[in-house]
Amino acid sequence: MKVTVNTLNKMKQDGQKIAMLTCYEASFATLLDEAGVDVLLIGDSLGNTVQGQSSTLPVTLDHMIYHTACVAKGTKDAMVLADLPFGAYQASPQQAFDSAVRLMQAGAEMVKLEGGMVMVETVDFLVNRGIPVCVHIGLQPQSVNLYGGYKVQGKTDTEAETLKRDALALQAAGASLVLMEMVPAAVATAVTGLLSIPTIGIGAGVNCDGQVLVLHDMLGIYPGKKARFVKNFMTGASSIQGAVENYVKAVKGSTFPAEEHSF
Ligand code: KIV
Ligand code: NA
Repeated sequence: MKVTVNTLNKMKQDGQKIAMLTCYEASFATLLDEAGVDVLLIGDSLGNTVQGQSSTLPVTLDHMIYHTACVAKGTKDAMVLADLPFGAYQASPQQAFDSAVRLMQAGAEMVKLEGGMVMVETVDFLVNRGIPVCVHIGLQPQSVNLYGGYKVQGKTDTEAETLKRDALALQAAGASLVLMEMVPAAVATAVTGLLSIPTIGIGAGVNCDGQVLVLHDMLGIYPGKKARFVKNFMTGASSIQGAVENYVKAVKGSTFPAEEHSF
């Protein structure tokens, strides 16, 4: 059955975990779809995994459109979620709308953008024009130059309060999903409890409504540094299909992430 925004909301209500993985092309899209992954994210992490860049900043809207079209071709049931890349949405709600339209025309069913309170107006603008939005808060990789590195966000009480306030404001603006990256598990748990829409975590503990990993990380084929929140699911699996099925099982059964993957 096709995964829609209604499916994701119902999963949260029923306490069923959402399994998300990044995906950049058609063959993997079909494999992931058939293994029961609920949402395929065309992440701008393709800058790192596919293009060999050291950040997501060089990724363009045209790159994202190409990979979104490839993934959409190979997908049947999973939701197709595409990242808005750096520079394609921050200038104005109008710019975000124009870019999001092109991703939707390439086959995306929801778009993701990074940012807290500053994105409230943009989320409202997109949602009122028919485009579902996932907001990415906590560590926002497109702002790596501002942080001076990939660091855990929301560690102080003030930062944690800001995360909660932002998540609530983005939900009120009409966001469909809140993705939290590298946030202390306790803070992600609190945000998840505050919201009626589902949360997805990466390095945000086991209590989010769903989990996401970068495909190349969970298959153990990314040559770069391995983050604490990454688990190689090829360990103990005899095929890629098996590894992805084990990931889905671990997310659904709340056995991933463990303490060792959390902050
Ligand atoms: O681009 C990406 O892969 C992402 C995930 C890390 C959530 O945004
Ligand atoms: Na991303």
